[in-house]
Amino acid sequence: MMAENSILPTVAGGKGTFSSDTEKEAEVLSGQTSTLKRKHESESEEYVSPTKKLDTGEGHSQKVATHYNRLQECGLAERSRSRIIHLRNFNNWMKSVLIGEILDKVGRGHRGVAVLDLGCGKGGDLLKWRKARISRLVCADIADVSVEQCRQRYNDMRSRGYPGERIFNAEFITADCARELLSEKLSDPKLRFDVCSCQFVYHYSFESEAQADTMLRNACERLRPGGFFIGTTPDAYELVKRLEASDSNSFGNEVYRVTFQQKGSYPLFGCQYDFSLEGVVNVPEFLVYFPLFEEMAKRYNMRLVYKKTFHEFFEEKIKNEQNKILMQRMQGLEAYPGDDRARLASDSPGEYDHAEKIAENHGVRLPLGTLSKSEWEATSIYLVFVFEKMP
Ligand SMILES: C[S@@+](CC[C@H](N)C(=O)[O-])C[C@H]1O[C@@H](n2cnc3c(N)ncnc32)[C@H](O)[C@@H]1O
Repeated sequence: MMAENSILPTVAGGKGTFSSDTEKEAEVLSGQTSTLKRKHESESEEYVSPTKKLDTGEGHSQKVATHYNRLQECGLAERSRSRIIHLRNFNNWMKSVLIGEILDKVGRGHRGVAVLDLGCGKGGDLLKWRKARISRLVCADIADVSVEQCRQRYNDMRSRGYPGERIFNAEFITADCARELLSEKLSDPKLRFDVCSCQFVYHYSFESEAQADTMLRNACERLRPGGFFIGTTPDAYELVKRLEASDSNSFGNEVYRVTFQQKGSYPLFGCQYDFSLEGVVNVPEFLVYFPLFEEMAKRYNMRLVYKKTFHEFFEEKIKNEQNKILMQRMQGLEAYPGDDRARLASDSPGEYDHAEKIAENHGVRLPLGTLSKSEWEATSIYLVFVFEKMP
């Protein structure tokens, strides 16, 4: 049940609804009970704290690569202590549901499905591709250390696969996808993709029209007709709305902060802001004005199927029972009230008022599944998009 008049995601649960076993994520994602044993196939990117901004003397692309190369994986124990563990899991659930929906459309398992993971990072989505039973994956990223970690993760996954399992073939490319053409780097120049997935990446390219266009070209030019370009990116409308409501050039809360250089003027390209999560300053990002993005995509014969805010996407997809089960297993929502052993992710006043209000209602099954207010404010900046390649 959704919270009435609330923008905060809250789902009624029931005792025992929430698993405390994070390994179950891997089980659900792979569809194989045996994967419960595979302890370290973590599904989401995790970051430790490079606390300083990077040297601005380097070119922007180099800064992005250096930044992501420096971020390290942290273990499950450290991850589960994170203030934003549920936010990360929630974002991961959003990607899983989106990928599942699109793979259903292209017909998973029937013929060889080829996917391009554009800005693959350390391979946070590898298990999703495995679950989707694709046959070929090309992973590309600007950060060479991340690409190597992604390759390593893939090799580990292959070597630990269950007997007889056919795990997709994969290829790994280090490239600035906003400046270099991937088609020139593919081992099979004739390869056509069914899906290009670009998760939390595209906004880096909106520094200039040429970069945004090259990234788009890489995403779309090798898609087969009927193929999809899917992704997640910050919603410029939401960012500017929050900025305009703030009395400074910055807004945020205890988990995230966005800082613009100025207010009132928003160029179509190169509109830079800094985004930090849990105090970690990220590399500069750029506003993606969606109507322009949609227009630019037409150059590559792409039709917008839909664009939804995270809020809209969540509300729609959580109605599906399978998605709800996946959410519970991935622990994308926090159990409220927490049990004796588990403290809530935040003890700041007001973080769970929305859940408390619902929990007081008679007949509501507890615990609820929710996010703290701050986490929800951070994740609801994003939107989901799906484009389809026209014949
Ligand atoms: C927030 S991470 C997302 C990683 C992954 N897609 C995920 O969802 O877990 C952003 C990624 O985009 C990559 N990236 C940024 N600009 C890029 C570019 N111009 N070319 C290729 N990769 C880029 C970064 O190196 C980083 O791995």
